[in-house]
Amino acid sequence: MTAIDEFVLRARGLRKEYGTGEGLVRAVDGVDLDVRAGETVAVMGPSGCGKSTLLHLLGGLDRSTGGEVSLDGRRVDLMSERALARLRRADVGFVFQSFHLMEELTAIENVELSALLAGRSPRAARRRAEELLARVGLTERARFLPSALSGGQRQRVAVARALCNEPRVVLADEPTGNLDSAATLDVLRLFESLHDTGQTLVIVTHDARIAATADRLITMRDGAFVDETRLTGGSTGRLGALVGLED
Ligand SMILES: Nc1ncnc2c1ncn2[C@@H]1O[C@H](COP(=O)(O)OP(=O)(O)OP(=O)(O)O)[C@@H](O)[C@H]1O
Ligand SMILES: [Mg+2]
Repeated sequence: MTAIDEFVLRARGLRKEYGTGEGLVRAVDGVDLDVRAGETVAVMGPSGCGKSTLLHLLGGLDRSTGGEVSLDGRRVDLMSERALARLRRADVGFVFQSFHLMEELTAIENVELSALLAGRSPRAARRRAEELLARVGLTERARFLPSALSGGQRQRVAVARALCNEPRVVLADEPTGNLDSAATLDVLRLFESLHDTGQTLVIVTHDARIAATADRLITMRDGAFVDETRLTGGSTGRLGALVGLED
């Protein structure tokens, strides 16, 4: 028996179409998804198959043209713009391939901005940002601008920012797409530790090593799920062996 509440994120018949007639693109074409609390789901598939579009629909960054999405039982597809803005601020943490940091703000300011926007006091926001930067191993770099950080460090700031308001789910869109392999391992370890702390995660990735950290791997093609594999590598400590790391 599975209680509905167990699912943080659900989609039913989810669709997103662009254009009309000859130019019609079915970017997401009838997706059903159930993500349990604490689960890490990886989504892989060829370029253009609809992975980013799907993440945007799941996190309320974009509106579907059909079907349902719910987060904690709340219908995202029926929300007002205002409610969606609140959802994106408080309930969902996004991590993007290109980091999306504010270049004129320091690492710590980038992180605390999220907390401030969610209504925390400046002092509480600063404390939270310090705590998160420590967690991603960047205490020493807190006052650096993004331009003075490596790709892996920037992505760790972006992850800290995504976690700032204790989101119900973190949605990551090719979080290692712009990283070299050392930085990829860094970010991969960070996602593993999030998994270990019970954070619910959906990660779109081209990197099999990242996918191997998940509980479940979904393959997408032409806007639809075509395959699903349950994995055991995620939280069982086999990952290190898999990627050839000695811990
Ligand atoms: N704003 C838009 N207008 C028209 N078509 C779009 C738009 N955004 C995306 N698409 C189309 O929707 C499809 C899915 O795009 P999406 O960005 O979700 O793919 P993806 O799987 O994330 O690809 P990649 O791996 O290259 O990031 C593509 O065919 C794309 O061209
Ligand atoms: Mg994409």
